[in-house]
Amino acid sequence: MKVLVTGGAGFIGSHLVDRLIDDGHEVIVIDHHKREKRRFPNAAATTHKVGFADEAAMEAVFKKEKPDAVCHLAAQISVTKSIEDPVADAQTNIVDAIALLDMARRHGCNKIVFSSSGGAIYGDHGIHPTPEIMNAQPISPYGIGKQAMEHYLELYSKAHGMQGVSLRFANIYGPRQQLSGGEGGVVPIFLDKILSGDPVTIFGDGSMTRDYLFVHDAVDAFVRALESDVSAAVNVSTGREVSVLELWNMVQDVHGKKQEPNFAPFRTGEVQHSVLAPNSAKDILGWEPMTTFEEGLAKTYKWFRDLES
Ligand SMILES: NC(=O)c1ccc[n+]([C@@H]2O[C@H](COP(=O)([O-])OP(=O)(O)OC[C@H]3O[C@@H](n4cnc5c(N)ncnc54)[C@H](O)[C@@H]3O)[C@@H](O)[C@H]2O)c1
Repeated sequence: MKVLVTGGAGFIGSHLVDRLIDDGHEVIVIDHHKREKRRFPNAAATTHKVGFADEAAMEAVFKKEKPDAVCHLAAQISVTKSIEDPVADAQTNIVDAIALLDMARRHGCNKIVFSSSGGAIYGDHGIHPTPEIMNAQPISPYGIGKQAMEHYLELYSKAHGMQGVSLRFANIYGPRQQLSGGEGGVVPIFLDKILSGDPVTIFGDGSMTRDYLFVHDAVDAFVRALESDVSAAVNVSTGREVSVLELWNMVQDVHGKKQEPNFAPFRTGEVQHSVLAPNSAKDILGWEPMTTFEEGLAKTYKWFRDLES
């Protein structure tokens, strides 16, 4: 299969590109290279250094490459930035994403896998782990953007017969993750602080919880969605709830040294508890997480330690 990966130079995207190449697919990477300081290009992929909203450039890419499928990962990825500038967030994450979806349709590319976010779309409604049947109640423009794109995928699937899969990810972590901006960002921040010995700040009282998914498991969900012919929105998660304080303790354990954290006020737009029920991904995509948090954290710690040494 020929797969176009937007955001293919990013954290999750670069792992996805490697996996698709290993599996024997042809891969076209679209990335404007404005975000990642460090990149992990795969020489076997064809890279176009363009913004996915650049209509002329993308028309040329679709005409030349004729992809069979699009995995759409490129996005404005910060919840905080989406609150500071909701217009810019909606432009990239909704308007430009619809333009990409429609361009795929016009070029006969009928399979779209979209990087959604369970953490951001469900909001704080109290049912944990949260199943897909719960109403989305996003509390940030970023979450609203993800929900909106899920609706467009569903519409394009019904109206145009396209296959659309929205992967509602938990917080993804792993090697290559950047320190700033993203949703799963607390893991690399804590690893960086423990390795450097710099003070660490916990926002709120540390009781905020998240469901952490190792990046290779996230990538496997993309692969299974590409292999399937269903259209659906599914949680991609572990179903295990870990508090920020527990995470900090696990990071100290893996490093073998104690360090007292500082506490700062809670940040708006962040949900207090997020843990997603993973069951339907198994039924619909045959996907389930393979990496325990302990294993994934140890692998990620080793990667950050090797980077800093
Ligand atoms: N990291 C997580 O925990 C998590 C959880 C849920 C959903 N997601 C979603 O997964 C996707 C990938 O996230 P990530 O953590 O790998 O982020 P990332 O920033 O590492 O990767 C995104 C990539 O997209 C590129 N990009 C951004 N805007 C672009 C544009 N307009 N044109 C071309 N390229 C552009 C960036 O240069 C970057 O390489 C995003 O859609 C994000 O919202 C991430």
